[in-house]
Formats: sequence, C-alpha cells, structure tokens
Amino acid sequence: MDKTIELLMCAPDHFGIRYVINPWMEGNINRAVPETAIEQWQNLARVLGEHAQVHLVRPQAGLPDMVFTANAGLVLGRRVVLSRFLHRERQGEEAHFKRWFAEHGFTVDELPADLPFEGAGDALLQRGKEPWLWAGYGFRSELDSHPLLAERLRLDVVSLRLMDKRFYHLDTCLCPLEDGYLLYYPHAFDARSNQQIEERVPAERRIAVQEPDAVNFACNAVNLGRVLVMNQASLELKERLQSSGFQPIESPMSEFMKAGGGAKCLTLRLTEPAAKKSRARCSTESRVVSLKGHLLDSGLLNHALDVAVEGGGSFRILNFKLGLQRQSTSVAEVKISAPAADVLDKIIGQLIDLGATIDTPKPSQARLVAITQAGVAPDDFYATTIYPTEVCVDGDWVRVQGQRMDAVVVVDTNGNETTAHCRLLRDLKVGERVVVGVDGIRTVRQPEARADRGDLTGKEEFGFMESSVSSERRVELVVEQIAWEWRRIRQRGGKAVVVAGPVVIHTGGAEHLAYLIREGYVQALLGGNAIAVHDIEQALLGTSLGIDLQHGRSVHGGHQHHLRAINLIRRCGKISAAVEQGLLKSGVMYECVRKRVPFALAGSIRDDGPLPDTQMNLVKAQAAYAQLLQGADLILMLSSMLHSIGVGNMTPAGVKLVCVDINPAVVTKLADRGSVESVGVVTDVGLFLSLLEQQLRKLEATTTAA
Ligand SMILES: NC(=O)c1ccc[n+]([C@@H]2O[C@H](COP(=O)([O-])OP(=O)(O)OC[C@H]3O[C@@H](n4cnc5c(N)ncnc54)[C@H](O)[C@@H]3O)[C@@H](O)[C@H]2O)c1
Repeated sequence: MDKTIELLMCAPDHFGIRYVINPWMEGNINRAVPETAIEQWQNLARVLGEHAQVHLVRPQAGLPDMVFTANAGLVLGRRVVLSRFLHRERQGEEAHFKRWFAEHGFTVDELPADLPFEGAGDALLQRGKEPWLWAGYGFRSELDSHPLLAERLRLDVVSLRLMDKRFYHLDTCLCPLEDGYLLYYPHAFDARSNQQIEERVPAERRIAVQEPDAVNFACNAVNLGRVLVMNQASLELKERLQSSGFQPIESPMSEFMKAGGGAKCLTLRLTEPAAKKSRARCSTESRVVSLKGHLLDSGLLNHALDVAVEGGGSFRILNFKLGLQRQSTSVAEVKISAPAADVLDKIIGQLIDLGATIDTPKPSQARLVAITQAGVAPDDFYATTIYPTEVCVDGDWVRVQGQRMDAVVVVDTNGNETTAHCRLLRDLKVGERVVVGVDGIRTVRQPEARADRGDLTGKEEFGFMESSVSSERRVELVVEQIAWEWRRIRQRGGKAVVVAGPVVIHTGGAEHLAYLIREGYVQALLGGNAIAVHDIEQALLGTSLGIDLQHGRSVHGGHQHHLRAINLIRRCGKISAAVEQGLLKSGVMYECVRKRVPFALAGSIRDDGPLPDTQMNLVKAQAAYAQLLQGADLILMLSSMLHSIGVGNMTPAGVKLVCVDINPAVVTKLADRGSVESVGVVTDVGLFLSLLEQQLRKLEATTTAA
C-alpha cells in the first residue's frame, strides 16, 4: 500500500484520568486500566500503520492527555497552527508539540495567547477540489479563532456550533470522508450548523449517525482512503458505510473513551494538502459593545453574556471598569462575535434591548428603508421593546414616541424636524421609512442597583415560594406597599388601569374590585367577555359559572346562568342600558357605568354570547386597549394570562405593573420585565383583592382620624 498519509501519535506511557475537563471524565478519575490502554493503543497504531506512516511524539510525564495528538494543532501543507488549550491542565502540551513540529520542518503559526483553539480536534478539512475547513466552537475553541484560521491558511472556514457537551470537540461528532462524504451526528449541532452542513454536502453523501453510534464514538474515526478506523459501529452504520464504498474497521477504545477520546483523537494527520491561495473566507463577524450600569449587582453583565452565547455567538471582555461603591456603576467593553452577520445582528439587537451601545467613533446612523407594501416591513426591521428607545438620524438621537413592544420604528422628517414613532406592522403605509438592522439604535435603561430592588421586584415571586416566612404574610406585605402607592397615585390624580379575568369573580373578588372602582382608584378596566358576563351573572343571579358564591355550592341549572345574563344585556342593547333601566344594580360593571370608568372588553374564540359591549374585531379591541392604557401610572393585572400579556406588550417600561396570578410561570412571564417597576404576586386573586380592600380602608380610616 502506498503510505502517502502520515499521522502523528503519542504512546500512552503517561495516560490516565487525572482531572475532569469533559463529561466523560466525570467519575472516571484513575479508572483507566493502563495495560488495556496500552494494548488498545498498540492495536490502533498497528491497524493504522498498515495504511499510513505513523510518527511518534515523546510522551511527557504529568501530561496524561498528550496521547490525544489531534489537539496538537492544525496542519496544512508544511504549516501548523499550534493549539492554544482552553484548560490549564492541557496547556503544558503546547511547548512539546511546538518543538516536535519545529524539529520536523513545519512552519509553526501561533494564535494570540488568550484565544483558545484546540487544533484538529475542532478543525477538520473537507478535502476535494475546493476544500473547506469545518471549524467547531461552543466548548473549547473560540469563534474568534476562525477568521484567523481562514486568513493564515487561506481557507474557506465554516463555523459549526457544538451544542452537546458530550461532543465537546468537533472530531467527536463529525468526520469528513473521502470523495465528499461526511459522517456526523446532527444532534450535536444547532439548527444553523445543520443547515450549513446540508447546504454544503449533498444528501446522498451525508451519513448521519444515531445517538447509540455517536456515544460509541463512531464519528471519531480515522479515515485513510476508503478505510475507516473507529471504536465501534452498529450493524446498520457499517452497512451504510460499506454501501458508500468504505471499509469500517473497529479498534476498541474503551480506556480512552473514559477520558472522552477515541481513535481520531489519538491521531493527527500530518499530510493535508495546502490550499490554493485566495480562498480565505470566513463569515464570522464581530462588534464591540459597551454596557454601563450596575453590571454585576443587577446581573446585567451575566445576562448580556448569556444572550451572546445562547444566540450562537461568543464574547470577549476587552475592558471592565468596576464601580467600587454600592451606588457607583461599572462599564464593560465586550467584543461579540457570531458565525454570520445575521446572527450577530440578532445578538446585538438583544443587547441593545438590554441597554448596550455599539462602540463606534461617531454615532452610527440608523438605517432607514422605505415601505413598499402596506402592512409589511423589510425582513431585517428592528422590533421594538418596552424600553425607551432612541434612533440616530442625521447625527441626532431622536426619542421614539409611543414606546411599546413588538412594533416597528417609523422615522418622519418634516423640514428640520425629525420624529420617530412605534408603529404596528399592520399600520405601515407605503413610502414610510422604517429602521432596519441594529445601527444607530439605543435603549435608555435606568441603572438598577441592589438597593432599588426592594420587596416589590418582579424577582420576588420566587421568594413567596422559597421564603421561610409564611406566604400569606408575604402577600400581606406586598399588598401594604401596593395600597400605599395606589393611594398616592389617586391623591395626585394619576391613572390606574385594571386588567381582570373571570377568576376575579369566581374567587369572590367582585365586591372588592367594585369597591376599588367606587372609591375612585380605577380609571379604566380592561378584560374579555367573561369578566363582564360572570360579574353580571353574579349581580343578577348570585352565581358565578353556576356556583353560588355565598355558599360555595353549585346551583341546580346554574350552568345556564351566564347565558341568561348575556341574554338580558343583549335585550337591553348594552351594559350601561341595563344599569340605566335599573336591571343591573351591583357589581364591577355596574360600578364602571355608574362612576363613568371606561372599559374595553376584547373578544375571544371561546366567548359565549358575546355581550354587545365585547369588541369581536381584535384590531379594534387592541386599539381600544391601547387608548385606555395611555398615560397609565399603575396597571393591576388580575388573573388573566391572555389579556395581561396583551397589555404587557403595549406598555412601555416605567409604568408600575402589578401582576397577580396563582401560577408562578404566568407571574414570571409578566412581571419579569427587567425593570424595577414590576411586581409579581403569586396568590389567589380573591384573597389578594380582599386584603387590598382591607388595607385601603385601614389607610382611609387613619387619614380620616388624623
Ligand atoms: N363564557 C365566556 O364567554 C368565557 C369564559 C371564560 C373565558 N372567556 C374568555 O377567554 C379568554 C381567556 O380567559 P381568561 O383570561 O380567564 O383565561 P387565561 O387562561 O388567559 O387566564 C386565567 C388566569 O387565571 C389564573 N388563575 C386561575 N385561578 C386563579 C386564582 N384562584 N387566583 C389567581 N389566579 C388564578 C390562571 O393561572 C391563569 O393565568 C378571555 O377573553 C375571556 O373573556 C370567555
């Protein structure tokens, strides 16, 4: 056999599992059997030696993982890009590999000292007429190494994101084969990477393995021509390989797998053809952003870095100035990288939402694109959040009006005046200019310090469940603070809006909500058909969904009561007419009519009736909600996931928001707006309203007495 392929291996003289740097090593410290390891390694070297020329690097005491020569570096032609190990435990290997390469006539290329890159463990050449390099990131190698590999090796680099920590190196789950074939485990990668693989390798050349083969390190295979040497493969996989013209050879690797390595990890291919010039290409992009505020205290920095990683990118903190006092703020300069411009834009967009600013010498201009189809924005439109936003137009930062979530920013220039507004997609008109991309956009966030986050923060809902204090007392404490604040809002003529679901009525809360309306605490009521239906049912027939609320018993024929209530209102024409005719004499809706508190009832698919007052045109219902929410100082969301989420999306940050629900997940979703103004209360809404009325009455009594 023509042994044109050369491999580098390292005998397992000092191999052992001495530390844990991957999930395979967990529980395996000192558990590799040396004699078996030596036998397995020798067997592998013998099998490989039949098809390739094997070179050896001298093993070193204290470097047990040096056997895994795949991580020595990445070889192309006579050039090697040396590895920069992520873990301190393996960094000692670098000098020994460097010496070996230099002594054997390779040009050694070194990456910046603090840029992890783990050689052919994370970079695999798809050979062919137009070769490219698959480059993995996510666990060991940094994404920022990919553009450098492209540049230094004049290669087309395709970044693949590893998602499963068991497959921490690319060569544990992907193996390029001769003739453009690819053996790989798709679940080890994110969707975008799988898409890249599918775009580059035609279906008939992709050999996707299932989990049992993947965990047996079938993809960690050494491909020498048509021979494929691996730990183990299922019958099915062997047949698939054979039908593609490959000859799988099994070489047991149990002892090395305890350390997270298989056949391929134990070898480094030294004979990779040098790429032709001018093919350097890598879609990785990066930008530097600044974050200011109570970065550690509020968890903002953590959150921002999570956004970068979860979004498929990576980060490097270039500068960090820590505010030393409790009240002083910190500044971080962070380089964000992503495998492609669109991924980077998405991450940057989310960071802007967190208050990050993009670092550019001059303020970058917002990119504006004219609408060409009514109600349809360009693909890369900027979607707004609840946070105050500014866009840079002609060098000036312009505050966006009508801030709300999930809208588009329309910029209008009239003479010298430039304005920017949030506009819903459906309201976009042809010719209007909207902001696209992420340039020239910033959100203005109030720095949130530990001191600001008292008992009333959105995060507090967890406290209700974990605290040693009884949850009842915790609810009382929160109610006391809400009552105190609500009275102040009423005193200064502020606006409070209540969003309520029918559970308010079912739990006996109607009388308390009616009290709040009667006493001038509520300036608008938002809900659906059901809150009104069951409130009227209770006022007319004493039941809510057929249950007698006085005695907690279902009433014979009570299930039809709400239909009778609907029927009566329909006969009158609307709720207010029923009040005027003296038919509806109590309850939440009665108080709204009597006190002229405007209400909006939005329809839904499950509505009975509906009541004539229920707006079944949802676009109109949304507009009615938005109008009543204008200028709100406080929004009380009471046990209606549907309507509360709708309202949350329309409400800008800065409005105090109290969400009461028995389900912690709903409270978390609504109250966790990343701002100090939201309060989540996990409790029964009837109990909450009863405590609230009691507390307000107590405060009233004290004021009157004083
Ligand atoms: N007959 C009708 O016409 C009718 C009846 C029911 C609902 N609807 C309509 O369906 C839509 C959704 O209704 P929704 O807002 O009731 O449902 P929803 O599922 O959106 O919200 C109900 C919320 O109440 C919470 N909850 C349940 N028991 C609670 C308690 N004891 N204390 C505190 N929270 C509690 C739940 O966790 C949930 O989050 C609305 O538009 C409504 O008008 C119509």
